[in-house]
Amino acid sequence: MPIERNFPSPAPEPLPVLGVLISGRGSNLRAIIAAIADGRLQARIGVVIANRADAAGLAHAETAGVPALVVDHKAFATRADFEEALVARLVEARAEVVCLAGFMRILSPVFLERFGGPVLNVHPSLLPSFVGVDAQRQAWEHGVKVAGVTVHLVTPELDAGPIVAQATVPVLDDDTPDTLAARILVEEHRIYPEAVGLVAAGGWRIEGRRFVRGR
Ligand code: GRF
Repeated sequence: MPIERNFPSPAPEPLPVLGVLISGRGSNLRAIIAAIADGRLQARIGVVIANRADAAGLAHAETAGVPALVVDHKAFATRADFEEALVARLVEARAEVVCLAGFMRILSPVFLERFGGPVLNVHPSLLPSFVGVDAQRQAWEHGVKVAGVTVHLVTPELDAGPIVAQATVPVLDDDTPDTLAARILVEEHRIYPEAVGLVAAGGWRIEGRRFVRGR
């Protein structure tokens, strides 16, 4: 008499899976981990990848018990090889959304096309003003009275993809670039997890340059 056995199909992934790329301190990674832990962000981090072994943010992943690894860009002959290695690790971890969190390598169309899903970045200025490095200092030197942070979808053009969320902070007369950056960072930690949740949940579209909620 044959024994009847059931092999249930694997349970569908209940939460959207994130891949977080870092290069340094990882305070935005820590904010994402905290938002997941206290239920503000409905997602799971599948993998944290640093392109430098000395990225301090790796410790946040370790503390939280999140899988983390290093893919050192210097170990690859070309940018395309490095990016293909990143995508391979992300796919292994079943990442559906990539969050750049202080990741200091420009990603080319090779990465964006191969990964295929949404890639988010947090940039410490009110885009489209002050693209590139040292955005807080650029804003301070320019003399703007309002500064802030932008979360945007990554496209091949640097800091130019559709804007998902922004928040403002005042620039005070006695600010230095460092005090301004610290005020902006508080808002980064607040809006990045929110924006990641919004994108990961789906139900949004791009109209022209505009990120619009609703199908
Ligand atoms: C943040 O200011 C972020 O806006 C920028 O790089 C910095 C990363 O900081 N893209 P951290 O590593 O998340 O602390």
